[in-house]
Amino acid sequence: EVTTPERVFEETIERDQRIEPRDWMPEGYRKTLVRQVAQHAHSEIIGMQPEGAWIARAPSLRRKAILLAKVQDEAGHGLYLYSAAETLGADRADLTAKLISGRQKYSSIFNYPTLNFADIGVIGWLVDGAAICNQVPLCRSSYGPYARAMVRICKEESFHQRQGYELLLTMMRGTEAQRDMVRDAVDRWWWPSLMMFGPPDGDSPNTRQSMAWKVKRHTNDELRQKFVDMTVPQADALGVSLPDPELRWNADRGAHDFGEPDWAELKRVISGDGACNAERVERRRTAHEQGEWVREAAAAHAAKRAARQEA
Ligand code: ACO
Repeated sequence: EVTTPERVFEETIERDQRIEPRDWMPEGYRKTLVRQVAQHAHSEIIGMQPEGAWIARAPSLRRKAILLAKVQDEAGHGLYLYSAAETLGADRADLTAKLISGRQKYSSIFNYPTLNFADIGVIGWLVDGAAICNQVPLCRSSYGPYARAMVRICKEESFHQRQGYELLLTMMRGTEAQRDMVRDAVDRWWWPSLMMFGPPDGDSPNTRQSMAWKVKRHTNDELRQKFVDMTVPQADALGVSLPDPELRWNADRGAHDFGEPDWAELKRVISGDGACNAERVERRRTAHEQGEWVREAAAAHAAKRAARQEA
């Protein structure tokens, strides 16, 4: 029997081993990974904005130091992920150009505004909690560089999740006005957090193939369910209620039943029409343009060093 590159690829996936950059891979596999990894990288970088907006307004030095560290971690996550995309032959400048011209997506969640400081806690608890649910299984994704980037990212995400929850616990022990801020933030972020997992399985064009390639390890609905089941006891411990009248334990399923997110809203936000899409992309474009001289200087420095080494 002849061993074709296709067979080697299929057997590697079958045996739960990793595909590495130099291995043969089908063009569709490469494309779907570039799409997902680039979107993921863009999400980390755009995700710096809603929280970055609160660094200068953090209520204490301690909160400011925590928030600064967290936003810097997100820049780091973006860099690991752009590097993973580069191992697939993508060009980072090209990915950035596609982001700022709206040809590549980033997570819907970052198109919602951060209105008060409790939002910082709720982003840590719910948004980073959802990110962890989605990303822990991606540590077993079939593409080596992506899976390995996920290991580091998930460790840092769990710190982010805890800092958010700890902030909310502190606020819930504070004044009635602080508790109101937490409730308001939870009400606004709950449904968008459920939407982070993507459309329902029946409307998810990429899931079937991505699962077959083991790029994704669970479907969107499976992960959404896991997130709800994980979060309900945390909400109880915090003393907040989640804004879903249909949310209840279903003993037969051994899982929570919950209401249907507004899928039309998700579609709108993904296609550019959320509260902050224009602002987020514009901010990213401006930062990119203002960084032009840094990129030029770095390239000139690298060229000079290379020339000196040759001489
Ligand atoms: N926000 C923006 N776009 C989304 C979202 C969302 N919440 N959910 C789905 N989409 C897009 C998909 O990217 C896809 O568009 P495309 O084909 O043009 O790329 C389309 O909607 C249909 O969705 P699916 O077929 O379900 O797409 P996919 O199989 O890629 O699943 C998912 C989407 C679950 C987001 C997957 O790509 C994934 O797990 N990505 C890695 C995690 C990630 O990107 N996290 C970023 C946010 S978390 C954080 O950074 C803190």
